[in-house]
Amino acid sequence: MNIQDKSRYREVHARSLADPEGFWAEAAREIDWIVPATKVFDPSQGLYGRWFAGAKVNTCYNALDRHVANGRADQVALIHDSPLTGTISTFTYAEMLREVQALAAVMQDFGVEKGDRVILYMPMVPESMVAMLACARIGAVHSVVFGGFAAKELATRIDDAKPKLILSASCGIEPGRIVKYKPLLDEAIGLSSAKPDACIILKRPQQDCDLVEGRDHDWGKLRSEALAAGKTAECVAVDATDPLYILYTSGTTGKPKGVVRDNGGHLVALKWSMENLYGVKPGEVWWCASDIGWVVGHSYIIYGPLIHGATSIMYEGKPVGTPDPGAFWRVIAEHGAVALFTAPTAFRAIRKDDPDGSFMRKYDLSKLRTLFLAGERADPPTVEWAEQQLKVPVIDHWWQTETGWCIAGNPVGLGLLPVKHGSPTVPMPGYDVRVVDEGSKPVPAGTMGSIVIKLPLPPGNLPTLWQQDERCRESYFADFPGYYKTSDAGYMDEDGYVFVMGRTDDIINVAGHRLSTGGMEEILASHPDVAECAVLGINDTIKGEVPCGLIVLKSGVTRDHAEIEKEIVKLVRDKLGPVAAFKLAITVPRLPKTRSGKILRGTIKKIADGDEWAMPATIEDPTALDDISSALKSHS
Ligand code: COA
Ligand code: AMP
Repeated sequence: MNIQDKSRYREVHARSLADPEGFWAEAAREIDWIVPATKVFDPSQGLYGRWFAGAKVNTCYNALDRHVANGRADQVALIHDSPLTGTISTFTYAEMLREVQALAAVMQDFGVEKGDRVILYMPMVPESMVAMLACARIGAVHSVVFGGFAAKELATRIDDAKPKLILSASCGIEPGRIVKYKPLLDEAIGLSSAKPDACIILKRPQQDCDLVEGRDHDWGKLRSEALAAGKTAECVAVDATDPLYILYTSGTTGKPKGVVRDNGGHLVALKWSMENLYGVKPGEVWWCASDIGWVVGHSYIIYGPLIHGATSIMYEGKPVGTPDPGAFWRVIAEHGAVALFTAPTAFRAIRKDDPDGSFMRKYDLSKLRTLFLAGERADPPTVEWAEQQLKVPVIDHWWQTETGWCIAGNPVGLGLLPVKHGSPTVPMPGYDVRVVDEGSKPVPAGTMGSIVIKLPLPPGNLPTLWQQDERCRESYFADFPGYYKTSDAGYMDEDGYVFVMGRTDDIINVAGHRLSTGGMEEILASHPDVAECAVLGINDTIKGEVPCGLIVLKSGVTRDHAEIEKEIVKLVRDKLGPVAAFKLAITVPRLPKTRSGKILRGTIKKIADGDEWAMPATIEDPTALDDISSALKSHS
């Protein structure tokens, strides 16, 4: 296959690697700078250099003010569609700006200044977008914590970010249940040692909550007072290299990594991607069906579409059951979305409930041009089904919280390359992707290895972890000197297509959500009856993978195993959160290990998935695998 075809991709990618500064300086013309960069890339700064050094900018200005000033005041910026509350609301760019100015002024009244951290523990409501942009406006650093995390996870993030202010809501809404956020927030603040000065709480009509005297404030009241008084906050100039946000993501232990995003590189990369990767024009309606708690939501519900001057849809609902598997098609048809970005798991759920696509055919999807999938490997059967049903290109693309935008994809705006099922296609500009062996030596095309990216990383990628340069260096830059370690394994073919096959660490992907099995093991091990444990991801037809915990009980424990297993399931839900989807704990007499004491996770996974497996030569006690096999069978 000749991957040049009619696409401009090859020429554009080659130029981005040959002349990175020239390439990104040109892309940076799409951004309104207060002071332009003195150096487009300064290799002497940071862990691998910094983009747009010396520049001053404001991200909120680029997302709102400039569009209001340049003719988009009355264009809708946000469509909030919530089948869970039965409401649809819209905000024009001018309306969104007014809301953001008012909240930014309120935050300043609480003493929030440039560089201060603000944690948002918020559901999928318009106020979340307002809050993120208000932080950006005054140079505060937001850190959004996904609503599906439990109080302890929130507490860990509070302790790391030490926020001056926390913004939250009375509740989130999941199908069939209201998730009361306020008690979780109170518990988290109780658990943490870094206490915020104040909390601003959005009371949603579905659930009231108490406010702690002297600490908590009613968001609605503050908002109306600020608007009535005409309060406003001007955009604060920040360095392009200053942090815009911190987003915590699973590391290999229970302690999450605070990925830092800068202002300048992020603006430039996201703006470039909207047109060139996603093929979306300013003024068009774009829908990213993720959650604002994930990087995908940060980049493509909030920042990307607004920086670009597009209309963004924020959806509070599920692909199925709210009310049926036609939910996505209803939203696309009703709002005229030209592209949808979601996770393959959503399509597997839709396909299960509507295998022949009859719900899809009830709606006019004529405006939809492209479907983008990310967050986990897009399995070829799901991609094929989506292609047959939708009859538009289905584009898998690969990225990580750390990168902030796509590493490998199929650039619609440059001209689509031929799609190969199972591959997210080719490296995006600025990404020099290599597949190497343990000694950093390139492996031949078609051979599996570690996927690494030659430094420097392009704009938008993490400069560091929040106040942890050393952890960042060790995690990403130490194992393969001169490269960023993605911790994904895979191969590249003769055409330069990337195939991402799985993680090289203990991270698993559950319904597109990134979780650490090591973190879960820490929770299992904290149960008083557990002597030893292992958590692994096992195949699931909808969620891709789900965690399964194997536990060995302490000698002398005589309690009912089923009861202990139930407690373990509850413990993970209480400590990590429902998002872990941890529903399976199995007691086994011993864990199969090698003679050097390593748990044979790969073989256990094969047994659990029903794949063929062979007895490892290094196994210490072969009967341990038989025990696992029968324990798994009795639970299936
Ligand atoms: N607040 C509180 N709880 C939440 C939550 C939130 N924001 N988001 C999810 N949860 C809960 C769910 O209610 C569920 O709880 P349960 O165990 O009591 O049922 C649990 O966390 C797991 O949630 P989820 O992964 O959403 O699974 P689900 O079974 O509710 O729905 C899918 C399955 C496939 C429909 C759903 O996972 C989905 O739409 N996935 C798309 C994934 C996605 O957008 N990923 C983002 C990366 S691009
Ligand atoms: P997150 O940081 O939550 O975005 O998760 C990033 C991880 O998800 C990656 O390191 C991959 O393991 C996985 N991932 C994301 N997108 C893809 C994709 N398109 N194909 C394969 N794996 C993916």
